[in-house]
Amino acid sequence: MSERFAVTGAGGCIGAWVVRLLRDAGDDVVGIDLAGASRHRQRMLGVDDVEQRSCDVTDRAATATALRDADRIIHLAGLQIPFCRADPSLGAAVNVVGTVNVFEAAREAGRLAGPLVFASSVAAFAGDDDGTDPRGRAATHYGVYKRANEGTAQVYWYDDEVASIGFRPYTVYGIGRDQGVTAAPTWAMLAAVRGEPYAITYSGRSHLQLARDVAQAFIDAARAPFRGAATLNLSGACPDAAEIVAAIRAAVPGADVTVDGPVLPFPAPLDASAYAGVVGRPEPVTPLAAGVAETVAAFRGLLAAGALELA
Ligand SMILES: NC(=O)c1ccc[n+]([C@@H]2O[C@H](COP(=O)([O-])OP(=O)(O)OC[C@H]3O[C@@H](n4cnc5c(N)ncnc54)[C@H](O)[C@@H]3O)[C@@H](O)[C@H]2O)c1
Repeated sequence: MSERFAVTGAGGCIGAWVVRLLRDAGDDVVGIDLAGASRHRQRMLGVDDVEQRSCDVTDRAATATALRDADRIIHLAGLQIPFCRADPSLGAAVNVVGTVNVFEAAREAGRLAGPLVFASSVAAFAGDDDGTDPRGRAATHYGVYKRANEGTAQVYWYDDEVASIGFRPYTVYGIGRDQGVTAAPTWAMLAAVRGEPYAITYSGRSHLQLARDVAQAFIDAARAPFRGAATLNLSGACPDAAEIVAAIRAAVPGADVTVDGPVLPFPAPLDASAYAGVVGRPEPVTPLAAGVAETVAAFRGLLAAGALELA
């Protein structure tokens, strides 16, 4: 029988891409998300017919039930910076307790065929960290919760030998990226396609990572023969906001995109040299120009088909 992947947060941007790539590869995948969570990203990627289980990861018993038959787990359910800022208690429940519940489910089931793969974030670091110091500080509730999850993963390895790989995505862009602080580049690409003006709300240098690449990294990690607990930075292009604007204008000549906002409170560039040694494969990285062109073309196709949906 084929292995079964379980993806929490499967309705989210990265989750929908993970489901899409697993389906494209012919893998057995079950998506896990809140009851009533939007499936619009899965619809845009053509995978909304995937088996779906409703589960709130803050509910330990429900999480164990939802993950009971998973051979590989990719844990992406979470609340982003604005939602954690608006309700820190809920943010901690979902991002911290939810992650503990996913690890508990994996430990209890005892059947994982590879590392439990989870999403940390660049927000685990403050702007003046160099991104490599494990004692680095976080500047947001969200970042503190992500840092807690990195520690949780280590303890599950030491105590229970539940292996794990966490990734710290930075600015993920592409179809389906429609919420969170760093969704601005994707909004700018959509505005350019629509012929509308758009101001990117932050400045400075940051890694831009195509959602399809990030999803592939999560899948590759879930298949890795890795034993231990590692949390890894991701790399990809590291443009400043003006270079993002230039990349969008290269794909959409005359695009009216500007930059108006503070520098992000995260460090860049990050050292991602540990990736290949842990995952056992090179990091999937689409060059920025190609990723922007791909995203612009996909937005054009969705608009032409009347199939664009946003959060
Ligand atoms: N997108 C980025 O740039 C970025 C950067 C760094 C880290 N991350 C992390 O990667 C992960 C996925 O990011 P994304 O962009 O796909 O996020 P997203 O906001 O698009 O999707 C998150 C998904 O989690 C689900 N969810 C929320 N609360 C839940 C709960 N209690 N139980 C079950 N599901 C719940 C939501 O319904 C949603 O479908 C998150 O953990 C996020 O913090 C994302």
